[in-house]
Amino acid sequence: MIRQVNIEPIDLRQDFLETPPITRDEAIAAFEACVKQVEANMDYFQDKFPWSATKELKYPIIENIEWTDGFWTGMLWLCYEYTGDEKFRALAERNVDSFLHRVENKIELDHHDLGFLYSLSCVSGYQLTGSEKAKRAAILAADQLLTRWQEKGQFLQAWGPFNSPEHYRFIIDCMLNIPLLYRVSQITGDPHYAEIAQKHFETSCKYVIRDDASAFHTFYMNPETGGPDHGATRQGYNDDSAWARGQAWGIYGIPLNVRYTHQLEYADLYRGMTNYFLNRLPEDHVCYWDLIFTDADKQPRDSSAAAIAVCGMMEMDRQLPEDAADKAVYRGAAANILRALIKGYTSETCEPGSPILYHGVYSWHSGKGVDEGNIWGDYFYMEALMRCIKDWHPYW
Ligand code: GLY
Repeated sequence: MIRQVNIEPIDLRQDFLETPPITRDEAIAAFEACVKQVEANMDYFQDKFPWSATKELKYPIIENIEWTDGFWTGMLWLCYEYTGDEKFRALAERNVDSFLHRVENKIELDHHDLGFLYSLSCVSGYQLTGSEKAKRAAILAADQLLTRWQEKGQFLQAWGPFNSPEHYRFIIDCMLNIPLLYRVSQITGDPHYAEIAQKHFETSCKYVIRDDASAFHTFYMNPETGGPDHGATRQGYNDDSAWARGQAWGIYGIPLNVRYTHQLEYADLYRGMTNYFLNRLPEDHVCYWDLIFTDADKQPRDSSAAAIAVCGMMEMDRQLPEDAADKAVYRGAAANILRALIKGYTSETCEPGSPILYHGVYSWHSGKGVDEGNIWGDYFYMEALMRCIKDWHPYW
């Protein structure tokens, strides 16, 4: 049965309906500024990778060991797709070698973030170049993700040693990991990957989204019964609040699942989550890092959550029929937020090691990447612009 949630009416409906679309020229100008920053960062990172977030607005340089390394390679592939310039492809292919090595040797892969890592680096590489190495890495990554499958609870375990009772939980972010499984089913012809993806998606929709359509960040299941236990946060403000990026993972995760399963019955869940998000935006329409905050709280924004939500609205626009409820409103909302990011969250200057999108929050409680750039914010901002430039085939 499809989960039913509250669908709030959209407060800014009229504003969004009146928002002009992002023109192709507007998107091209913004995307070309991103390409320049990527070029500067290619010299800076060489064959290594940026850490997840900037420190004092510069990316530390790391080996391929984090959950976020695929975003950088995804950006290289976006640049290659746009410019056709072989230098982007050459570095992206060397990154693919690194990702193949990482999965063959299971380096820092005891978690569920295989989709973030391998959809953007290797599914993309295979899609754009037919590379057999990229294909092999994507399949091995999907196999590795399946090792997190909890049959009793019907979910993919997010973090921690597999089967340890205190880690018997999944998180909303995983909605972006499971497209790897759908894609590998298509590549291999083996339906098992897609079946697991579908089951995880259903468990996730059932429990991690509250009745008011806001999301918990994480959800614990009961290891004895496999049934639901309780929601809890890790990166949100508190257990009862709606972490902005978690909400955005849902807003993008649902359309990506609909893309593979064609289950438009999930449109109302998407509407509930998106409307909840849109009704809690500050004056400039770029969300605070948790949707509990208002302008009076003076908290930092999370521009990356805004970029993810924009990509989600753009993907759902493709899935929804022309007469779907509020379709034009979501189009306007996506344009409105993306324009706010272009105008207020990027820099005119281009320094090696700098981010593209400013004012993100990685993890407020641990003080990581607070009011800094982060590499997924850069990636989703570029993806959103690419979607305005052409009929883009997702890497997800
Ligand atoms: N997936 C982890 C995060 O969004 O920070």
